[in-house]
This record gives sequence, C-alpha cells and structure tokens, in this order.
Amino acid sequence: MNITLMLIKPDATNRHLIGAILKMVEDDGFQIEFLKEFYMTDELAAEFYFEHRDKDFYMPLVEFMKSDKIVAAIVSKPDAVHELRKLLGATNPDKAEPGTIRATYGETLRRNSVHGSDSDESARREINLIFPNNKYFPQDKK
Ligand code: RTP
Ligand code: MG
Repeated sequence: MNITLMLIKPDATNRHLIGAILKMVEDDGFQIEFLKEFYMTDELAAEFYFEHRDKDFYMPLVEFMKSDKIVAAIVSKPDAVHELRKLLGATNPDKAEPGTIRATYGETLRRNSVHGSDSDESARREINLIFPNNKYFPQDKK
C-alpha cells in the first residue's frame, strides 16, 4: 500500500513542532494527502489503541494522548508503512537512529512525538477511524 497514517502527538503539537515534523516528512519524499487536527477521547482511544488495552502503559498513554491537540496526516509514498516507520525511528527516542523524527524531537518512551501505523491492515483501520468516509476504502463499513 502506498498510504499510511501519521499522528503528531500532544508533546510535539504543544512544543510548536507541527511544521518542523511535516517538513521532515515531506523532505523524506512523502506527499501529505490529508491533514486535520483533533483531540483524543476515551472512546476513540479504546478503538485506536485496542491492541494495548491490557498493557500497564495503556491508561497513562491515553491520558497523554488526551493532553493536547493531535495532528493526523494521511501520507503517501511507495511502501508507505515501512518507509514512515523508518523515518519515525525506534519507539524509545533514546534508541532511535540519528536523523529520525523521534531521535530529533522525542522526549521519552511515551512522549515520542509521532505515531505511524504498523502494517497495511492497521493503516486501513486507523485511517478509517480518524478519517471516516475517506476516498481510499469506500467499501469499508463505517
Ligand atoms: P506508535 O504506535 O505510536 O507508532 O509507536 P510504536 O508502534 O513504536 O509503539 P507501540 O508499541 O504501538 O506503543 C504505542 C505508544 O505507546 C507508548 N508506549 N509507552 N512502556 C511504555 O511506557 C510505553 N510503551 C509504549 C508510546 O507513546 C508508543 O508510541
Ligand atoms: Mg504502534
């Protein structure tokens, strides 16, 4: 698939890094297809982070994601999921490769500035959640 979902998380929007992060994404060869801002809710988090619902870090993660504005982007490039995860870097900014977004801007394991879908299936699910009635998956039930 050539599209994926990126979120700019509250630690980054709060530090006025929306433009800087979108520039890194564009400079890496991605097209920004759709962009919006929103605030996380408990209901949306329950769906978005379904896979993490039983983890110790679930509640603090949701509280963090609710703490400020989020910017969501559908971005495109060949092999988009893999290419974006490479640009984001390791989940823990301390372990992320130099030059990646998390190495550059991430603060902690939780406050790591960006999200990227981890598979084509996740990208489809997450894009449908954040951008209902998008043009990409018209056959999916909303
Ligand atoms: P993401 O979903 O944000 O793209 O990051 P990821 O795939 O690299 O990491 P994932 O395992 O899906 O975790 C989702 C987000 O939860 C926070 N986290 N906290 N042990 C912890 O305290 C912990 N582990 C993960 C991070 O914000 C991570 O991005
Ligand atoms: Mg993940």
